[in-house]
Amino acid sequence: MELSEIYAPVQQDLNRVRDTLRSISRIEYTWLAEQLSYLVKETGKGIRPALTLLSGRSYNYNLDYLLPMAVSVELMHTATLVHDDAIDKALKRRGQATINSIWGNEIAVLMGDYLFAKAGEFVAETQTPRVIKLFSQTLGTISSGEINQFRGAFNLNQTREDYFRRIYGKTASLFSLATQSGAILAQAPEPAVASLKEYGDNLGIAFQIVDDILDFTSTEEALGKPVGSDLTQGTLTLPSMLLIERYGDDNPVKKIFRTHSQKNLAEAIQMVLNSSIIPDCYKIASEYCEKACRNLDSILDTASRRALYGLAEYVSRQGT
Ligand code: IPE
Ligand code: IPE
Ligand code: MG
Ligand code: MG
Repeated sequence: MELSEIYAPVQQDLNRVRDTLRSISRIEYTWLAEQLSYLVKETGKGIRPALTLLSGRSYNYNLDYLLPMAVSVELMHTATLVHDDAIDKALKRRGQATINSIWGNEIAVLMGDYLFAKAGEFVAETQTPRVIKLFSQTLGTISSGEINQFRGAFNLNQTREDYFRRIYGKTASLFSLATQSGAILAQAPEPAVASLKEYGDNLGIAFQIVDDILDFTSTEEALGKPVGSDLTQGTLTLPSMLLIERYGDDNPVKKIFRTHSQKNLAEAIQMVLNSSIIPDCYKIASEYCEKACRNLDSILDTASRRALYGLAEYVSRQGT
């Protein structure tokens, strides 16, 4: 299934989410209005708001609550990207120049904050303390994941458990918020809320593993953002961890991390590509997608459940 087919059960409502996202740039402060409209012009794949709507679709699909929630998760996501790009010194996002590259890191920090504030305003519209609390907890979890990644840069002493904890924090926790909040706001029964939460956890882990694979295998043109940047930032991801595990002391990743010199970058990427590491990483991502699918077994068999299966399958074959 392609994304358009996966999104079909909620497509009209996703269009409303996109229109609402664009409307945040309609403010009086002209300078900020211009930057915001630049930012929301390219909207990305919209996976997180789709997760919220699809998770609620099988139950009491109340758009008064589900729409602002979907807008809120996408705004939180966009805010983390604006901050992440400033931290990563990235020049491109969604095919256009990043906020930090045009207006500098200070504006990127402040614009990220503005977007978080907007995300908070939208989540408040759900009038549901349980979801508002989850929203705040998730923001804390994402921040600690990113702090953990930043502090662990160029550190070779990291285990796979460290990696999985980190990607749960920075990515899967938001997928989890997206699905859980959709289920809660649609008054799904508690076992279904729990299943959709676990689906979000597993899908989010798989999604970040695949993103980490694409950093080695894809191109800036295809992704609309820089590639090869994880090693440049000193971020150990699953492919580079496997390279360290499998190839001894004379390892280009070890050299990059020890010397902070980028001259071994091309060598490291080539070594990964010449090995079975990429298929092995896809296999691990697929196992998480399969787990995510099993989490759906206990929820109602509807078009939106089929879409969620389709999304797991889509994530596992991204870039293949
Ligand atoms: C990018 O997420 C950040 C990661 C968690 C890897 P997406 O790939 O969902 O970004 P957009 O929203 O489609 O641009
Ligand atoms: C995702 O990690 C960042 C956040 C969740 C904030 P990445 O650093 O891998 O995301 P990209 O590759 O820049 O989109
Ligand atoms: Mg990044
Ligand atoms: Mg990445």
